[in-house]
Amino acid sequence: MNFKRSDFPKDFIFGAATSAYQIEGHSFGGAGQTHWDSFAATPGNVVREEHGAIACDHYHRFEEDFDLMQAAGFDAYRFSTSWARVMPDGRTPNPEGLDFYDRLVDAMLERGLDPYATLYHWELPSPLADMGGWRSPDMAKWFGDYTACIMGRIGDRVATAAPINEPWCVGWLSHFHGAHAPGLRDIRATARAMHHVLLAHGTAIEAMRGLGMKNLGGVFNFEWAQPVDDSPEALAAAERYDGYYNRFFLDGVFKGSYPTSVLEGLEPHLPDGWQDDFKTIQAPLDWVGLNYYTRKIVAPCDDAWPSLTEVDGPLPKTQMGWEIYPDGLYKFLKRTAEEYTGTLPLFITENGMANADVIQNGVVDDPERIAFLNAHIAKVRQAIAEGVPVSGYFLWSLLDNYEWALGYEKRFGLIHMDFDTLKRTPKASYHALKAALAQ
Ligand code: FCB
Repeated sequence: MNFKRSDFPKDFIFGAATSAYQIEGHSFGGAGQTHWDSFAATPGNVVREEHGAIACDHYHRFEEDFDLMQAAGFDAYRFSTSWARVMPDGRTPNPEGLDFYDRLVDAMLERGLDPYATLYHWELPSPLADMGGWRSPDMAKWFGDYTACIMGRIGDRVATAAPINEPWCVGWLSHFHGAHAPGLRDIRATARAMHHVLLAHGTAIEAMRGLGMKNLGGVFNFEWAQPVDDSPEALAAAERYDGYYNRFFLDGVFKGSYPTSVLEGLEPHLPDGWQDDFKTIQAPLDWVGLNYYTRKIVAPCDDAWPSLTEVDGPLPKTQMGWEIYPDGLYKFLKRTAEEYTGTLPLFITENGMANADVIQNGVVDDPERIAFLNAHIAKVRQAIAEGVPVSGYFLWSLLDNYEWALGYEKRFGLIHMDFDTLKRTPKASYHALKAALAQ
């Protein structure tokens, strides 16, 4: 790598991230059905109809995975707890699930890894989906109860906690594009999900404060919106994209309002009394996490709101087809601090790339990932040098895993996974990072 640990402030945290459904093996330990299981079972939604029943079998192999994290010299591990494992029907605790997360957190602590917990990384229990899922105003209460249940068990030992991974994906990607479970394409469902996800976020923060927990944050995803040209129409389209992708959630949490460019389309579909919910949505946070992967070039079009077209960009792309644009990370760190969070600590809670990695003679060479990390981490250093309070960087992901609608084909891991034998093989990027963290 072109950096070393000593280039960063003394307490800077280096970590790796995963999520429950993507690695654990959902068929183990009495977990309940989720909307991802039925979404994946519906032809056309997921590549080869792949699902998370076994995934990386982290459920049984977490000790081995944490040994690898410890050996790499990481400080922290960002993981998620599965609602459907903790409460298979969404509302009744499963002792086996609670025991699992208890063991998981202890195994991190034994290896000197700080547990960074996320409460929802997308596997909604099916019985709650049947009752409307994120469209339902009851979600916030159900989510608050689940939060109290799981954090009542592990909240005394986690270093930090955040309620919901990437509200944009929960709201927009899943209810407007229909690309993730529950696969809806409906503007009213979208508006409700976008709002209820924030209400659930605030409700969970309040529940955790009630338990006396500290270091509570929010994890949001960002994509830089680049207008295709300087025309007023392109600028307006990019502003709309930026509005519903990036600003909606930070505006809600930090300003108690939604961007005008988004209300133009969503306001008629928001639930009655939505303005009254900001007192909950604005529950104070201790830190903010940014997940960053790419940018989007946006052009206007004549369709109904939000009337924009995503244009194929010229930069080198990852296996996902995402342009590699490290500047976007820098710009979002600066903008978030300047316009929203001030002196609150910021974390990069996800950043990384999918690459078509192959294992040859037991070795995985991934110079592309090393270059990607170098370029992005350089931008983190630049932001820190300019005074942005960045406290840590989490790489996505520790392991190759279930990449949602794209199945097991897209490899994001520092550690290669043979999905037939479940053998773990650290890639060249793992070894490079390990060397950098030791210096
Ligand atoms: C993020 C998700 C994560 C993974 C990466 C590639 O949006 O949080 O689960 O899919 O993208």
